[in-house]
Amino acid sequence: MVILVTGGAGFIGTHTIVELLNAGYKPVVVDNFLNSKPASLQRVQELTKRNFKIYNIDLLNETKLETIFLENQIDAVIHLAGIKAVAESVSNPLWYYQNNILTTVNLCRLMKKYHVKKMVFSSSATVYGIPKKVPITEDYPLDALNPYGRTKLAIELMLRDIYQSDPEWSIALLRYFNPIGAHKSGKIGEDSKGIPNNLMPFITRVAAGKLEVLPIFGDHYPTVDGTGVRDYIHVSDLATGHLKALEKVIQSTGVDAYNLGTGQGYSVLELVSAFESVTGIRIPYQITSPRPGDAAICYADPSKAKNELGWRAEREIKEMCEDSWRWQSQNPDGYLDDEELNNLLE
Ligand code: WQD
Repeated sequence: MVILVTGGAGFIGTHTIVELLNAGYKPVVVDNFLNSKPASLQRVQELTKRNFKIYNIDLLNETKLETIFLENQIDAVIHLAGIKAVAESVSNPLWYYQNNILTTVNLCRLMKKYHVKKMVFSSSATVYGIPKKVPITEDYPLDALNPYGRTKLAIELMLRDIYQSDPEWSIALLRYFNPIGAHKSGKIGEDSKGIPNNLMPFITRVAAGKLEVLPIFGDHYPTVDGTGVRDYIHVSDLATGHLKALEKVIQSTGVDAYNLGTGQGYSVLELVSAFESVTGIRIPYQITSPRPGDAAICYADPSKAKNELGWRAEREIKEMCEDSWRWQSQNPDGYLDDEELNNLLE
């Protein structure tokens, strides 16, 4: 089966394509390389020893995007393309509404035109806002608190409306908790530019000596040690969650949301100490003021995905830390395209 993967060059995308190829699917990848590099897809091809089509197209360009549907018999879509920095979305909401929502409208219009009515959509636990209690189940009230989260919520609602208008559609809304780690080969991982937004890439950059000290955003939360608690999930477990969701949308119709988390929360300090014990590298940190909009505690009840998709996360926090560090230490400059590699070698 031919699966169109939008945003396939990204952190989740590369790991999902590896699992798709290993499972015998035929991925077709589209990415505008705004937040990723073609080098990441070359790594996937090296890793799996398989080739696949790659289209360098922006989903905002519906005409160009249509060529993919003209040139390929698409069976289903895994829609990962989008931008995801919360703080950036607050300072530049229009950029987020344009890049996350308009792109999805274009994609769905073409899916409808070419009778492709099966989609796995990359949503986020951010749609829950600040949860009133944990663990979080899918029927919790949805309350996105920032423009990024609101784009994810708006797309979820739009996809539900599409299904209401045409019950032949089959859609899985995957609400990611906190993806960390990397493929065990160390060949693919999270390649964010500049100062990382998220905790684990910050930790690994400190461990690599690229950043001096880890800022810990507040230690007065009502948690085990005062620091924020999150549900960290290995990106390879997240990837297999996409395959299970794909199997479901292929076999049925309807719209369902699924929490993709482990069901286990770890505080910032617990993650730091797990990383230190696994790598033997001390992570200097400094407690700073809380980050506006941060929840104290956020972790999933993943039983719906277990019961309906036959999926659960299998990798523990130790393996997440090992794999994150292997990626960082083996790729200190992330993915280097040929020009960057030549400059580095000069
Ligand atoms: C985790 C914990 C911070 C950095 C965000 C998005 C979410 C998803 C994942 C896209 C929190 C603390 C962090 C640092 C710190 N992205 N922290 N120092 O905020 O749970 O979720 O990323 O889908 O949508 O909202 O992840 O990694 O930023 O923070 O102390 O330098 O680490 O306060 O408690 P978050 P995070």
